[in-house]
Amino acid sequence: MVELWVNVDHVATLRQARGGTEPDPILAALQAEIAGAKGIVCHLREDRRHIQDRDVRVLRQVLQTRLNLEMAATSEMINFATEIRPDVVTLVPERRQERTTESGLDVAADTGFFSEVVQMLQDVNIRVSLFIDPVPEQIEAAAETGADMVELHTGPYADAPSIEQQQEELHRLHESAAYAASLLLDVAAGHGLNYDNVSALIRTIPQVHEVSIGHSIVSRAVFVGFPKAVQEMLDIIRDAALHRHFAFRNSE
Ligand code: PXP
Repeated sequence: MVELWVNVDHVATLRQARGGTEPDPILAALQAEIAGAKGIVCHLREDRRHIQDRDVRVLRQVLQTRLNLEMAATSEMINFATEIRPDVVTLVPERRQERTTESGLDVAADTGFFSEVVQMLQDVNIRVSLFIDPVPEQIEAAAETGADMVELHTGPYADAPSIEQQQEELHRLHESAAYAASLLLDVAAGHGLNYDNVSALIRTIPQVHEVSIGHSIVSRAVFVGFPKAVQEMLDIIRDAALHRHFAFRNSE
């Protein structure tokens, strides 16, 4: 089965636009759980532009499933994660000016540093995922750090301007997922996934066991409500996973 983890950052983005209390990302997270999400993701950014420290603390208290905290590998964030103990930490690069996370982490540039951060988090029983571009160099470096998992950056796949380029990106993701799995890394995928592009990804790449999706679900929720938006995504994921299963049975 492929797990859907729902990112609630952009519920908080809307709340922060007025600086008040609604809409509440906690409520969205609980509704996502009830609808069948296997986990909740939030990104506590250095500039606190959407998710706030309190959101993470409350999520930690109330979630029945699991919490994945996306964060930069800074000492402030490592201390925070050590205190809060999310089930998973996904290390991401962070630039103040960016609209959203724009590229994967350059683990290969400083494997020693990331190995230390991974170890610190694992020492307090947090699973560690590294958000990386689907390239062999980064996958090898991620494996070297001892991380539990990689999240492959699907942005270029989601933004590909033509079918041909999308196929190329899918191929790159497929090769990368297979390589990561061969190095005993669990494989997740995320960024820019939506109701149109998630199916092909899941059907094509058997190693992906988890997808992390935020913006498209929150956007759809504005019109159909959060539970329905999550259910619709889950239906697509389940259908794609089923086809994947049959495709492999038939090729045996
Ligand atoms: N995974 C990571 C590492 C991210 O930074 C984001 C964006 O916050 C997502 C997944 C979700 O991306 P989107 O909001 O485009 O679904």
